[in-house]
Amino acid sequence: MTIHIGAEKGQIAGTVLLPGDPYRAKWAAETFLEAPELVNETRGMLGYTGTWRGNRVTVQGSGMGMPSLSIYVNELIRDYDAQTLIRIGSCGGMQPHVALRDIILAMTSSTISTPSSGIFRELNFAPVADWGLLRAAYSACEDKGIVPHMGGIYSSDVFYDERPDLNAEMVRHGILGVEMEAAELYALAARYGRRALAILTVSDHLDTGEALPSQDREQSFGDMVEIALNAAFA
Ligand code: HPA
Repeated sequence: MTIHIGAEKGQIAGTVLLPGDPYRAKWAAETFLEAPELVNETRGMLGYTGTWRGNRVTVQGSGMGMPSLSIYVNELIRDYDAQTLIRIGSCGGMQPHVALRDIILAMTSSTISTPSSGIFRELNFAPVADWGLLRAAYSACEDKGIVPHMGGIYSSDVFYDERPDLNAEMVRHGILGVEMEAAELYALAARYGRRALAILTVSDHLDTGEALPSQDREQSFGDMVEIALNAAFA
């Protein structure tokens, strides 16, 4: 048990999928895993462990934003020895060619700050995805007939953004989408020598203001779970 995760030591698998929403963790575990077992419900941040094609997997909610994700990922790595951590989440599209429902595999993520900024001080650390996971996730997309966007995203501290000037610069520099967790996930994976990847579905678009209805979100979330599982065990 840790401060935020009630599971016993052996109850968390080496591979952890991280949706932001704890109810998505429940849905993913019950839909895709065999014999899913509830291993955490501290603060309602549900986590389940089961197997997929004979491989043990945990699906643990991370909450929204980098401070929340940082708590769970620190404890998953330091106390439970998680080796492979894959975020499955949503993002806002930032480029005209990035459409609703599209999938983005985040090669890197820009930020203003993360919980790790205190360590890096003057350094603009460039957080990157694990290459093996990235390659395997790309292949898993191909197998499903999905062509993902590959490139940089923005991990923001705010959902209700007040910096249109900064967003314009990021659009100009090819940033594909905005979410709120990946940069800290990648920084922690780098610090502890673990594998990490963020797989994102475009759920809304900054240009047009359009947003996916909740039914469509479930379908695309299912695609991401399958891509993540195939990538983790490729
Ligand atoms: N901004 C930040 N995070 C998000 C968004 C967004 O527009 N959409 C989904 N996650």
